[in-house]
Amino acid sequence: MSQPLHFAVFGHPISHSLSPQIHQAFAAQFGIALDYRAIDATPEAFGEAAKHFFQDEESRGANVTLPHKAAAFALADEHTQAAKRAGIANVLTRLANGRLSAHNTDGAALVRDLTDRHDLDLRGHDTLLLGAGGAARAVAWALFEAGVQTLTIVNRSPEAADALADAIGEPARVHTRYWEDLAGIGSFDLIVNATSAGTLGQSLSLPFSLVGSRATCYDLGYGKSAFGFMAWARAAGARYAYDGLGMLVEQAADAFELWHGKRPDTEPVYQALLAQGS
Ligand code: ATR
Repeated sequence: MSQPLHFAVFGHPISHSLSPQIHQAFAAQFGIALDYRAIDATPEAFGEAAKHFFQDEESRGANVTLPHKAAAFALADEHTQAAKRAGIANVLTRLANGRLSAHNTDGAALVRDLTDRHDLDLRGHDTLLLGAGGAARAVAWALFEAGVQTLTIVNRSPEAADALADAIGEPARVHTRYWEDLAGIGSFDLIVNATSAGTLGQSLSLPFSLVGSRATCYDLGYGKSAFGFMAWARAAGARYAYDGLGMLVEQAADAFELWHGKRPDTEPVYQALLAQGS
């Protein structure tokens, strides 16, 4: 019998990562035997650890999570358009010639979670994007291309928000406002928290006036890091408040398809994670 191909997720910390469980569940849907490991690498060690992993011809792909997404992008020889737009990568794939390709599937994953799982029709949504770092860049383009009516980008440091809006270059639909002015910029139908405040254990002080009567609020993080934003959204009267668990499963599905050429069914995996309290 042939040995299973090798896959991994790199992060720091990584022990609580759900990616091994998600990929094993996908593999089981197709009867694929998978060697998928979680590799903890400090920021200093990531480059060498990733190169070492991919030296092995049987190592075909890796997911990359915090804090290595920018380093993964820098390490790769080739980059998809989505990765270039974000400037960070969450998927590395070993090409047949041994070169590494960087991809970013986070934006597509968010849009699919919102539209397919949560039945949102993004067209006609006035959308507020909080943050302008790598995570925000990854989803801004996808939200724009999915047809949101307007995209207002607000970041604590305004320069990064301006740079992101300029890069998209559609001033009629995509513009920026100042963080200090959040209380005076009206309400939105969709509010996406792409800041790393929750991950850093910091709380955001956001006015309730941002939340429109039918608003959906979405945090790109999941579990504990999303608690603060989700609590704010519910207190502000949001119709729906979601964390990024669905997006996590969807981005994993994109990586799985990239590596195995098969599209897994994400719903049972998402439901199983919900049931176990993830
Ligand atoms: P990621 O890859 O998670 O996006 P990042 O590129 O470091 O990480 O970006 C972090 C984002 O969260 C930035 O938009 C950052 O705002 P600044 O550009 O002003 O630093 C935002 N952020 C982090 N902590 C925040 C806080 N306490 N309040 C508001 N924004 C915060």
